[in-house]
Amino acid sequence: MPNVELLPSIFEGAGMQDNGSRPLALVTGASSGIGADLARELARHGHDVVLTARRAPELEALAVELRALGAVATVMPKDISVPGAARELAREIDLRGLRIDVLINNAGFGDVGPFVREDPDRIDAMLQVNVAAPTALTRAILPGMIARRRGRVMLVSSTAAFQPGPNMATYCATKAYVLSLGEALARELRGTGVTLTTLCPGATHTGFAAESGAESLPLFSSRLVPKMSSANVARAGYDAMMRGKPVLVTGFVNKLVAFSGRVFPRAVVFPVAKMLLGDHAN
Ligand SMILES: NC(=O)c1ccc[n+]([C@@H]2O[C@H](COP(=O)([O-])OP(=O)(O)OC[C@H]3O[C@@H](n4cnc5c(N)ncnc54)[C@H](OP(=O)(O)O)[C@@H]3O)[C@@H](O)[C@H]2O)c1
Repeated sequence: MPNVELLPSIFEGAGMQDNGSRPLALVTGASSGIGADLARELARHGHDVVLTARRAPELEALAVELRALGAVATVMPKDISVPGAARELAREIDLRGLRIDVLINNAGFGDVGPFVREDPDRIDAMLQVNVAAPTALTRAILPGMIARRRGRVMLVSSTAAFQPGPNMATYCATKAYVLSLGEALARELRGTGVTLTTLCPGATHTGFAAESGAESLPLFSSRLVPKMSSANVARAGYDAMMRGKPVLVTGFVNKLVAFSGRVFPRAVVFPVAKMLLGDHAN
């Protein structure tokens, strides 16, 4: 059974009463890592969930786990690297009569290497998954939340957003877009009863490094760089989202990295980026 005392505060302070039903959360990239742990966090706190990603068996297995926590878990596999797929997903959710109270834009992946050696098809897919899809989903789902004067949105960015990243240029640029969009929307949403939180994890133990070819980078391979568990990132992200915090960088060292990316000149930032992301010789 869900812990009723922990039922989310999205019904508080928004000028509306809870209508008695459990809030519904849509989680993208729910088949592994941070997304799966965010879905667990949501279910533990009394939410029903719609789980999406490409790998249906992983989503089904997570749905079984979350149903045991008392959540209604709906699986909707989708490849959001296909142009238009995110809007299609929003339409399918609408056609099923599902009303999203919490939107978690988490799906994403990276790529390592000099820009001119990156696979152009992979760049296209990354721009769709990391940039176009969260933009389209947020645009599709926000108006209903604003009309109901309640809702929570999360965009998952990264500490990679705070400085350009030679050797991981496209990925860092996608995450800078996400952070910029998130910070702007958090301001636009003031007074609407809806809040938006941009979550910026640093290196985290998930499938990300392997999927992105980043396992050998000092960022992931060096013992000197602290890594968080996806469960801890999800817990901190969930709490920040429910408090309506506009931006959360997880972990003390990551906060320092993000802060220095914002305040130090590029002459300082680039050598640090090189230490973490390796060489980018063409
Ligand atoms: N791990 C880190 O160090 C780290 C640090 C900062 C930020 N982040 C961000 O955290 C988010 C979650 O990543 P993670 O670390 O949890 O890595 P992960 O375990 O690899 O999870 C990535 C998720 O994105 C989904 N995804 C990828 N391509 C997709 C596509 N074409 N269509 C639909 N879903 C797709 C994957 O599902 P399928 O493969 O089943 O499609 C998976 O569920 C990402 O946005 C990532 O950029 C990660």
